[in-house]
Amino acid sequence: GNKWVLMVTAQTPTNIAVIKYWGKRDEKLILPINDSISVTLDPSHLCTTTSVAVSPDFTHDRMWLNGKEISLSGGRFQNCLREIRSRASEVEDDEKGIKITKKDWEKLHVHIASYNNFPTAAGLASSAAGFACLVFSLAKLMNLKEDQSKLSAIARQGSGSACRSLYGGFVKWIMGKEENGSDSMAVQLADENHWDDLVIIIAVVSSRQKETSSTSGMLETVETSMLIQHRAKEVVPKRIIQMEEAIKNRDFPSFAHLACADSNQFHAVCLDTTPPIFYMNDTSHRIISCVEKWNRSEGTPQVAYTFDAGPNAVLISHNRKTAAHLLQRLLFYFPPNSDTDLNSYVIGDKTILQ
Ligand code: PMV
Repeated sequence: GNKWVLMVTAQTPTNIAVIKYWGKRDEKLILPINDSISVTLDPSHLCTTTSVAVSPDFTHDRMWLNGKEISLSGGRFQNCLREIRSRASEVEDDEKGIKITKKDWEKLHVHIASYNNFPTAAGLASSAAGFACLVFSLAKLMNLKEDQSKLSAIARQGSGSACRSLYGGFVKWIMGKEENGSDSMAVQLADENHWDDLVIIIAVVSSRQKETSSTSGMLETVETSMLIQHRAKEVVPKRIIQMEEAIKNRDFPSFAHLACADSNQFHAVCLDTTPPIFYMNDTSHRIISCVEKWNRSEGTPQVAYTFDAGPNAVLISHNRKTAAHLLQRLLFYFPPNSDTDLNSYVIGDKTILQ
């Protein structure tokens, strides 16, 4: 018969949590112990571009990451592929004379090529953009009828934080109650136009790969920290409500206060883990002091900071003017090529999935 290839390309930005996800109640399904809230970055910075192709010539599923073939045998890839395949529907392309039935999808194999426009190993949440893009592009290729939230529940099984990258703007990952995870998914709180004054600056403190992966770090925290129980049950539920309110009202002082406090508590539960996990370094701590001093001297917060499972600072400024002031300060206190190793700044706005 006729040889053919059908291909889809998609682009997905990463997201940065302002109320953190840390700790799972189910390791396999990736179900969290608390809700989380994030902001999705602009696709021109820190995004993944993925092309997925199907052809009767392909003999097995294969994937390339930044041009290098990687194994798809891991449980997380397999779970995503299985979930998507089982929901595939008929595809017809009259021009090319292609017809793929629901049954055909069970036997056809896919090739996946994925590129990050930032260093994969830099601890900049590459798995969030990566799995969101993989699920989104495969869902387009296989003509899934599911809405974005249902797709987010599939991306969640690749990497928890990935479920939040299926939407632009401000996104909440609802932890859900069901044991099978069917209600643990992302919803959009506000789109990328809602609060477009915000400017996000990422100060790359170190591009070395983190020592403790989020997967093993979370597991150790849940097993050994007593503080994490208090955080998940008493602190985060209240903060989620307050953060939703702050976003709705574009209330920057409340937004900044909550984001900074939540980042600090996340790193506190890491310290409360046995053995303790150190994600931030001296430069991270100096950036926090610098921002705290500045905010206090102004009488009202100008900039919020948040750090994920690594030393890099995500700095969210109120508007373009404070962003310019922030960059001035960063360049003054952390001059490039000094011993602080603050080697680049990534600047982005909030955005939408394309
Ligand atoms: O989804 P993972 O395994 O990459 O974990 C993400 C954990 C944090 O980035 C630290 C917090 C978050 O909510 O994104």
